[in-house]
Amino acid sequence: MKLSAKTIVLNILFLLVCAAILLFLLKAPDETTSRLPMDDTHRQFQSGMSKKEAEKQCGECHGPQGRIPLPPDHPPPYRCLFCHKRQL
Ligand code: HEC
Ligand code: HEC
Repeated sequence: MKLSAKTIVLNILFLLVCAAILLFLLKAPDETTSRLPMDDTHRQFQSGMSKKEAEKQCGECHGPQGRIPLPPDHPPPYRCLFCHKRQL
């Protein structure tokens, strides 16, 4: 099999792009969003029910009428547990 110079150059470029993407991903910062706390209030949501089931109950305390409403600069709060990961 004889590779043309163009094919070889394209292959090298492809490998360079792959290496760049890999480096970029490896350098991503640590996940910083707070996890679902491991305290008495939240332990019941850590396991034993689906994420959707658990998320229905967050609003009781963190909804607009709750005791600890979300801060005004909070990102769109659908699917709490995708960002605030469970620890169990
Ligand atoms: C019974 C009330 C109640 C329910 C229900 C509740 N929380 Fe909380 N949550 C609190 C209180 C009180 C705090 C503040 C003190 C603490 O960290 O426990 C808090 C704090 C938090 C924090 C901040 C932790 C930190 O490190 O600053 C997150 C994130 C959170 N809750 C997520 C959730 C999610 C997600 C749900 C639903 C699965 C949920 N909470 C359900 C009462 C509740
Ligand atoms: C798109 C990601 C995302 C989603 C979805 C999300 N949050 Fe958050 N939440 C954050 C970020 C980022 C912060 C800022 C502070 C931090 O890093 O915890 C925050 C902060 C909070 C805080 C305050 C923490 C503190 O230290 O004061 C609470 C309570 C909270 N979220 C609860 C919830 C609940 C309940 C839901 C679902 C109704 C939810 N979040 C959905 C990303 C998210």
